[in-house]
Amino acid sequence: MAHRELENDRLPIPNGWFAVAFSRDLRAGDVQPLRYFGQELVLFRTRAGQARVLDPFCPHLGAHLGHGGRVMGETLRCPFHGWQFDGESGACTQIPYCERIPPRARVRVWEVQEKNGFVWVWHHIENKPPEWDFPALPEFEDDAWSEPRTFDIVMEAHVQETHENNNDPAHFQFVHGAPQVLPTETHFSPDSTHYRIVSDYTSPQLGGEMTLQLVRDSWGLGLSSVRTEGLPGAGLLMFSSTTPVDEDHVHSRWLFTSTMNMVDLAGEEFMKGLTTGVLQDIPIWKNKVHRARPVLCEADTHIAEYRRWVRQFYSTPASEAAPGKGASA
Ligand code: FES
Ligand SMILES: [Fe+2]
Repeated sequence: MAHRELENDRLPIPNGWFAVAFSRDLRAGDVQPLRYFGQELVLFRTRAGQARVLDPFCPHLGAHLGHGGRVMGETLRCPFHGWQFDGESGACTQIPYCERIPPRARVRVWEVQEKNGFVWVWHHIENKPPEWDFPALPEFEDDAWSEPRTFDIVMEAHVQETHENNNDPAHFQFVHGAPQVLPTETHFSPDSTHYRIVSDYTSPQLGGEMTLQLVRDSWGLGLSSVRTEGLPGAGLLMFSSTTPVDEDHVHSRWLFTSTMNMVDLAGEEFMKGLTTGVLQDIPIWKNKVHRARPVLCEADTHIAEYRRWVRQFYSTPASEAAPGKGASA
């Protein structure tokens, strides 16, 4: 008899940039407790407008800075005894009832950036600094493109599995009701965190029988965009980030924008098409196991390429990276 636990090859939480909020949902002075990567965090925006992420447990007596903490200028003030922690350095800068600040009064600071409408943090299992970056997409800065619509969802899945969907043209026919497997080309550059997949499709709503291209870019595990190309003077763009909540859950956030001339005609359908799509994937992800060594057929080349690409986002287990280290006590 098959047991899901025994059949499942567990995947660790990968390294990389992951979105933890939509930028528009975090105003100056806002404080939000977060839980990602199996850890508690606190996110806040300083009065000068910087998004900051800290480890949330106060080094004093352990209060959670995300529950009742308050932004004071560029610092976050603990709700319990008012110690203030600088968002940039994590150092305690003030104890309201004591002159001398203990040198160990600091909290860990996470690397943060804001781009493409999201607040991002760098997660690395060995606490290494950022090793790669991704571009700002010009559509989000361009007045000819609409104010983005948003969608987000928490799912029982692993980010490697949700991202693998992009490289699995065959499932579009069986899960998403595509009339056929779309002709698809993948463009990988060796050792790059970016790759592109281009599929041809004909859309009855968009331009009659014209053949359009669906261009899917990935810049790391969980970061991807989908663009339509081939419509003269018009375009649609979806940009998303899928963030590990823990080993078994992810939080996906999506932004949709289109050229202003398309917004009424197709903006809604494009968004609905993609969000309905993800709802169709959910029962598969929720109930499947991860196969570290899947049995693939000849037509599954994109999946095989993807499995090679994802390896760069995991740290080698410490025992393999440093042979003999720690074993000689
Ligand atoms: S627990 Fe944070 S100031 Fe005391
Ligand atoms: Fe899918």
